[in-house]
Amino acid sequence: MEDKKDIFILAIESSCDETAAAIVKNGRDVLSNVISSQIDLHTLYGGVVPEIASRKHIEAIDGVITQALQEAGLALNDVDAIGVTYGPGLVGALLVGLAEAKALAFAAGKPLIGVHHIEGHICANYIENKNLEPPYMALVVSGGHSHLVYVSDYGKYEILGRTRDDAAGEAYDKVARAIGMGYPGGPKIDAAAKKGNPNAVRFPRVFLEEDSYDFSFSGLKSAVLNYVNKQKMMGEDIVPEDIAASFQQSVVEVLVGKTIKAAKDRGVAKIALAGGVASNSTLREKMKNACEKEGFILSIPSPILCTDNAAMIGCAAYYEYLAGVRDGLDLNANPSLRLGDR
Ligand code: KG4
Ligand code: ZN
Repeated sequence: MEDKKDIFILAIESSCDETAAAIVKNGRDVLSNVISSQIDLHTLYGGVVPEIASRKHIEAIDGVITQALQEAGLALNDVDAIGVTYGPGLVGALLVGLAEAKALAFAAGKPLIGVHHIEGHICANYIENKNLEPPYMALVVSGGHSHLVYVSDYGKYEILGRTRDDAAGEAYDKVARAIGMGYPGGPKIDAAAKKGNPNAVRFPRVFLEEDSYDFSFSGLKSAVLNYVNKQKMMGEDIVPEDIAASFQQSVVEVLVGKTIKAAKDRGVAKIALAGGVASNSTLREKMKNACEKEGFILSIPSPILCTDNAAMIGCAAYYEYLAGVRDGLDLNANPSLRLGDR
């Protein structure tokens, strides 16, 4: 039998505040995964400033790509295709990665493959979990999205539910700001919650209609803000660790409950977590316990592959490459690209 040729993808990600490049072999083997984070800079402003993000991407991107190639021991000519996030995200930030990818594809004569950022997050699961194959239910929870996605096959996504207002990560970030923890809120609340009592304050669990897979986190966020204001008005001290733990308990209960229900309803055997909030220690633990109890096989990427990175984009690009997807140099950034639009 003829040996199958290895496929090397150079992947680029710049949709928000990380400039990232990676080399991925055959979709699941990460040869390098370089991430240049701007978080410290945006922390000064309490959130991501789009204009600053674009400028910093421009400064970092050449070096990040060079490092990714060096660490993988490859030259640009050795790669088979260039994968790049083209949406959703901040348009100015996306354009930096996309322009770079197009320039490299043109100069080296390599195919260009545009990748949906959320598809990348989902595909992060394939990197460490070599046996994972569709179908499965994916919970994608990031700063911009909270989606329940039925993955029927590689590249085939059906969105069963989405947030009607704030994304889960957005709620973490806003609540963290209200209790004086700063940006990004997710990791800070995660750490503070470990020292707090999750039953200290009973915040609402918003499950919406019984048959809905949608999420809503803005009511919970308001409940936390109202609680904090009320305590302050009454001259009472707040215990940020207790608020963090109680808020987190409420978010995680809803995320776990809805995911298990969707998996049961669709009759899948496997569940996968994805997105920045999937690095949350309580979500990981509670989802693991629920999956053990209900008999589902659970996949969760390591925390570094949950937050934004380019290895996940390389993995998604590989499956698009196998499916024959090739983009032209007229590919444009689409800040509100929908999953499954092609
Ligand atoms: O996926 P991601 O890196 O970027 C987007 O595509 O949005 O997700 C970033 C989000 C932020 O809202 C951040 O606060 C949240 O993920 N996050 C966490 C944790 N680490 C990051 N949320 C909860 N617990 C964490 N440990
Ligand atoms: Zn992301």
